[in-house]
Amino acid sequence: MANTTLTAAKAAKKDEFYTQLADIERELVHYKEHFRGKTVLCNCDDPRVSNFFKYFTLKFNDLGLKRVIATCYKSQDVDLFSMNASEQAVYQIYDGDKDGNNMPDASEIEVRPLKGDGDFRSAECIELLKQADIVVTNPPFSLFREYVAQLIKYDKKFVIVGHQNAITYKEIFPLIRDNKLWLGYGFKGGAGHFYSKYEDVATAGDHREGMIRVSGVTWFTNLDIEKKHEELILYKHYTPEEYPTYDNYEAINVNKTSDIPCDYDGVMGVPITFLDKYNPDQFEIIDINPHFYTIVECGLQKPKQLSLKNVGMKDPYARILIRKRK
Ligand SMILES: C[S@@+](CC[C@H](N)C(=O)[O-])C[C@H]1O[C@@H](n2cnc3c(N)ncnc32)[C@H](O)[C@@H]1O
Repeated sequence: MANTTLTAAKAAKKDEFYTQLADIERELVHYKEHFRGKTVLCNCDDPRVSNFFKYFTLKFNDLGLKRVIATCYKSQDVDLFSMNASEQAVYQIYDGDKDGNNMPDASEIEVRPLKGDGDFRSAECIELLKQADIVVTNPPFSLFREYVAQLIKYDKKFVIVGHQNAITYKEIFPLIRDNKLWLGYGFKGGAGHFYSKYEDVATAGDHREGMIRVSGVTWFTNLDIEKKHEELILYKHYTPEEYPTYDNYEAINVNKTSDIPCDYDGVMGVPITFLDKYNPDQFEIIDINPHFYTIVECGLQKPKQLSLKNVGMKDPYARILIRKRK
């Protein structure tokens, strides 16, 4: 495989890669209206290296923020990229410019010690979470399920980076189906370059020194964004030849999101990338590759796939089953 995939990073529990300021800006420009008067928490972010903390302190006035808090996680692993001079896990607070130079100076950023290691699940970090209105970060991918579950439990708004594979997790898919979580605008070309010490296996043309290319990364959010209300224009017409039905599920197969027929009212199996265009007023999500996520999670059997054998077609890998709303 040409690119380092997040799956690979996840498998190896490689959680140390850092988001670029430009990628944060490109996404968050669409959420500006949500931040006025709000407390933002970046809870997987060493404030001394995190571009999330940097972004919110620099944009503090522009966004009209109330407070920015960032907590850092001190792992026992001394070899981590995030290792810095201090052994102490800390959190930092910024309440805005005080000296009139409109810059977040070091003297205006309050550094406070944490008792524990800064794990987002610890009681003291949960206390900080409770103070926050919106959580924005790139959390450790190996803990993505737990991370999202905690945000939902504490009823927090969030904009976070994750891998599109997470869509199929049994803990995540129902949130998407029930309109409690959706995809943000995403990374350019569906891949991100992150600062990291891990070896990059991107092709030469895509290699950037000191970075890894991670394909399939995206943004997950529960903040309302314009994109979610845009109607997908449907122009193709249904024919049984072009849209065969599955052998084992009552639905037609659609190979490309742009090919969704405008005149079919039944259930349709569409690629996972459909979620990039998903407008819950236009479509209803019913299921994902019938129980695909459950079986994958159990890890005992091969995922049950939708079958198109009767028409001699390859089985589609993963399909989201949707229906047009009337
Ligand atoms: C993918 S990195 C992203 C770092 C930073 N948010 C950014 O985007 O630049 C995930 C970070 O979460 C930290 N981390 C790992 N386990 C954690 C935990 N249990 N609680 C808090 N942070 C954790 C890692 O040390 C790592 O720095």
